Amino acid sequence: MIDPGTVDRIMEAAQSQITEVISEFVNLKRRGINYIGNCPFHNEKTPSFIVSPHKGIFKCFGCGKGGNAVNFLMEHEQISFVDALKVLGRKFHIPIEEKEPTPQELQQQNERESMLVVTEYAAKYFSQMLYESDEGQSVGLAYFRQRGFRDDIIKKFQLGYSPEQRDALTRQAQQQGYKLPYLEKTGLSIVRDDYKADRFRGRVIFPIHSLSGRIIAFGGRVLRTDAKTAKYLNSPESEIYHKSRILYGIYQARQEMVRQDRTYLVEGYTDVLSFHQAGITNVVASSGTALTVDQIRLMARFSPNITIIYDGDAAGIKASLRGIDLVLEEGMNVKVLLLPEGEDPDSFAKKLGGEKLLEYIKEHETDFIRFKTSILLKDTEGDPIKKAQLIQDIVRSIAVIPDPIVRSVYVKECSRMMEVDEPVLYTEIGKIKKKQQEKARPRPTGSYGGGPTAPAASPASTAVPADSARPLPELTDNPLENEEREVLRFLLKYGEQPLGAVEAEGETREMTVGQYIVHALREDELESRNPLHNEMLEAYESQHQKAGFQAQRFFVSHSNPAISSLASDLIAREYHLSRIHNKYGQVNKDEDVLPALVPRVVTELKWKMVKIRMEEVRQALKEAQDQGRESDLLELMQQLALLQQAFKIISQQHGERTII
Ligand code: CTP
Ligand code: MN
Repeated sequence: MIDPGTVDRIMEAAQSQITEVISEFVNLKRRGINYIGNCPFHNEKTPSFIVSPHKGIFKCFGCGKGGNAVNFLMEHEQISFVDALKVLGRKFHIPIEEKEPTPQELQQQNERESMLVVTEYAAKYFSQMLYESDEGQSVGLAYFRQRGFRDDIIKKFQLGYSPEQRDALTRQAQQQGYKLPYLEKTGLSIVRDDYKADRFRGRVIFPIHSLSGRIIAFGGRVLRTDAKTAKYLNSPESEIYHKSRILYGIYQARQEMVRQDRTYLVEGYTDVLSFHQAGITNVVASSGTALTVDQIRLMARFSPNITIIYDGDAAGIKASLRGIDLVLEEGMNVKVLLLPEGEDPDSFAKKLGGEKLLEYIKEHETDFIRFKTSILLKDTEGDPIKKAQLIQDIVRSIAVIPDPIVRSVYVKECSRMMEVDEPVLYTEIGKIKKKQQEKARPRPTGSYGGGPTAPAASPASTAVPADSARPLPELTDNPLENEEREVLRFLLKYGEQPLGAVEAEGETREMTVGQYIVHALREDELESRNPLHNEMLEAYESQHQKAGFQAQRFFVSHSNPAISSLASDLIAREYHLSRIHNKYGQVNKDEDVLPALVPRVVTELKWKMVKIRMEEVRQALKEAQDQGRESDLLELMQQLALLQQAFKIISQQHGERTII
């Protein structure tokens, strides 16, 4: 934990010296009060990337990326919030004072740190053995070279060699002062009573890196083909290595995953290496196990698009199909490539080379549902029961896809492939979704986006882990996105400005712009359909009374990257209120127009929110009527009556306010 005071100091330094931070990566030229350069996040020839030292933000008008200096580092280097702060702390010579950890935290931290120190030492040892010992050169290095791996690839992945001796590493490490318990916990040494041995002896070594590049585990491959032992041996699960949460190659792939907006998923260590050697670096491996949800989310942080590359082993494919539904459920776009018989990604990449391989992938990858249908369809010929099961199976895959438009495309496609009418498929999907909805928790009643016709909220989509490197994707189904952002913009830019006296709960109170906005939206329990907007409002509510609070600073330096970049975006929309308002009369200072403008904008938003909500309830009423659901009817009519009442009041305010 970095203590909050230090976070503030680093944020402040980064904000005021944003050009210094960014110019390490982008060639910036002065243009008026701003700086301009070629955007590092997309390819461009004419610069559309602006840095505003005055506001402490950057913004690309080509690809839309924007944010503060911390966001920039997180995005550019694909690192976590905390890591970005550490980089900046070093740059601006701000010592990072960690919050006093509890003794238990301290012990855990020390334990993990000690283990990481040992794995780092071991990796160096393995590498040294590979290059400098006779055995390493003649056995290990010779093996990698004979398999066709170039030296730069061997270096890049820090490959190594563990000599064919019982306890060479364990002994040397202990001599150097590394403690046996950590050698054992990391799985490098196998310890039984007096007997000590190196787990990986006589194997070539593939170090496994964490997202931030530290070595957390190893894979070791035997070289003798006659060996009775397993071909690959891996480090055991430990406090620093959770196999199900990491992907081999993610550290080396993450930047390119973002840049290409795609990830290739292969099976093994050598597949990853060969792709890199062919110049394709957005590749990770599941290391021979079924994909887990954590691994999928790890990929999703960098890109929603994945292509899974299979070698032609049919049994293996069928076993993994079930797991891929998980990927669809996370809203990712999955494509599948089946390699020709007898090839694996490693051999195929070596055979074709990068350019041809990419061409081949583009030409032969198919989307997952089509792939699954065609594979399973082959088994059902002439067997109606099997076919019915298949339809169920495919429908289940389609039903988990969050986006309705994507779903409908698949329904069409599968209807054709399986020769089943579309309505039949929709009915089945409806049944599955109904079951899911019954399981999902109900939405808060005040949300205008809720109600019987709205899709169930996905709780997963609202939570952004603090160290997420990728902002939430923008929601596209919010009809009031622009209106809401306009209100948020006022909150950010003018939150602390006085607005004047407002009647609330029967008394008249002096309010600031921010207080008014929160009050006006809360009064009618209105919520946005965009969870990010709600989160910002909540954050404002809980923080704005703290001493020295400033909405603009608070949001631009918010630890949720989705929030800080939205905030920078809103601030970058540069125009003065007085300029707009001059149309209505001669007013010069922004502060003078706020009392008239803010209520108008807020009321307008509320008015539209209630209107949409009414329309939804009317629609639900109609459906309930058609389907004869008497019990729902009554409740919906009550809801509608309440909304109509609110609408009348807001319309009145709306009318009054627009006249001013
Ligand atoms: N694997 C493992 N343990 C095994 C076999 C395989 O952990 N006993 C994992 C490794 O990560 C391996 C991946 O599964 O890279 C794929 O296995 P396989 O296709 O058998 O190995 P390759 O990657 O093709 O390795 P090589 O080309 O060196 O034989
Ligand atoms: Mn292989």
